[in-house]
Amino acid sequence: DRPRPLAGKTAIVTSGPTHEPIDPVRYIANRSSGKQGHAIAAELAALGARVTLVSGPVTIADPQGVATVHVESAREMLDAVEQLLPADIAVMVAAVADWRAAGEAGEKIKKKPGKAPPPLKLTENPDILRTVGHHGKRPTLVVGFAAETQNLIDNAKAKLERKGADFIVANDVSPETGVMGGDRNRVRIVSAKGVDDWPEMDKQSVAARLAGEIARRLQTAIA
Ligand code: C5P
Repeated sequence: DRPRPLAGKTAIVTSGPTHEPIDPVRYIANRSSGKQGHAIAAELAALGARVTLVSGPVTIADPQGVATVHVESAREMLDAVEQLLPADIAVMVAAVADWRAAGEAGEKIKKKPGKAPPPLKLTENPDILRTVGHHGKRPTLVVGFAAETQNLIDNAKAKLERKGADFIVANDVSPETGVMGGDRNRVRIVSAKGVDDWPEMDKQSVAARLAGEIARRLQTAIA
């Protein structure tokens, strides 16, 4: 039997993309598969944590041993996460859409022959990680992700502070890496202490090692 260092602890994990409605049939989305976030939820549960996964729309199965809440938009995801506070651990892995359509049309927007395309006005979504990181009920350990295609480390360091995270898992999602939607990942752990470079491995292994790191850092934070 594996040791269960997170027995008695609660964890919230977000995963997947969000879908931001434009009208009843159209939405804005991104290429997140949910593989990394779902794997992390499962590995935290394997270490004994009581885990709730808040998942955007994905095609993969709900992980075993984890309570899964399904949401569509960033605003729904934030509501679900806030309802789960207080918690000991929050790991925000979801690729939340930064923007949504300003004002969802109640009816399908019709194409009008000879008319210019309708303008798509965007408005900013709430930042779930930042909200949780600065919350009155802030979890003891708050972990964020940073998917970037450039200036990976500098961007992650800036995010630590701005979002109130204990550490940021930075990964390069440039198309040539195959990370987005793929099964492998190479991450760097960015905290106040510095940058820890992990070798490339499959997402399940990243999740297992991350769950161990979370258990270790939670111990230190409590001690
Ligand atoms: O700023 P950026 O989107 O790169 O930050 C990534 C981190 O912030 C991830 O942990 C992601 O889950 C989280 N995030 C969030 N809500 C947003 C945007 C990002 O929770 N609206």
